[in-house]
Amino acid sequence: MRNKIVAGNWKMNKIRGEANDLVNALKTASIPAGTQVILGVPSLYLSELSSNLQGHAIKLSAQNCHQAVSGAYTGEISAAMLAAIDVPYVILGHSERRAYFHEDNAILAAKVDAALEAGLKVIFCCGEPLEVREANGHVAFVQKQLEEGLFHLDETAFANITIAYEPIWAIGTGVTASKEQAQEMHLEIRKMVAAKYGDASKSLHILYGGSVKPSNAGEIFAQPDVDGALVGGASLKADDFTQIIQA
Ligand code: PGA
Repeated sequence: MRNKIVAGNWKMNKIRGEANDLVNALKTASIPAGTQVILGVPSLYLSELSSNLQGHAIKLSAQNCHQAVSGAYTGEISAAMLAAIDVPYVILGHSERRAYFHEDNAILAAKVDAALEAGLKVIFCCGEPLEVREANGHVAFVQKQLEEGLFHLDETAFANITIAYEPIWAIGTGVTASKEQAQEMHLEIRKMVAAKYGDASKSLHILYGGSVKPSNAGEIFAQPDVDGALVGGASLKADDFTQIIQA
């Protein structure tokens, strides 16, 4: 049986004091047994929040890292820098990184390699835009993202991957994929992974992302191939995020 993962993606939100307030509030939340909570916070706060969360079950994630080990990449952060401050996870391939920062599947494959090399676990995002969904091309679209971004990994490396399926039309829009749409795609993803890696597909966590909120989390989490969520907007409010964790 796979445990559940509830990951927050704060994106570029929260000023320092607010970040600490939110983490302090979440530290007091009761977390159901078998649920891993992860907070994807702005890189600037990782060090401080890592100290704050020392010994706590809540884990931290970066929202990005660079593919190079080090060098002349002004403004960037390497995977080794994250590992050195005990950050265990990094989110890669979020649709906002793909759209606004031109990260394509080849760059993402290199980022995945850099992250795993540094000992991080990767939450790898995939998901189709609305026009692809409307043309019924969503399964093929996601398959290409996984083949080009992840499927170069060997089975041992792949064990450090969590996949987040985030249909772009559901991100930040208030429109959530129906539980049937989420389950359909999660099952398709698990089949793709089974075809490539065999039994590793059974332990793979596949998170759903896109307008997850307290009112819809329960029914989405009840789907057999949905192993939790990557939550944007609703992870910024302690009450909402706590309710999602408890769902
Ligand atoms: P949302 O964002 O929950 O605000 O739709 C999800 C995400 O972008 O990870």
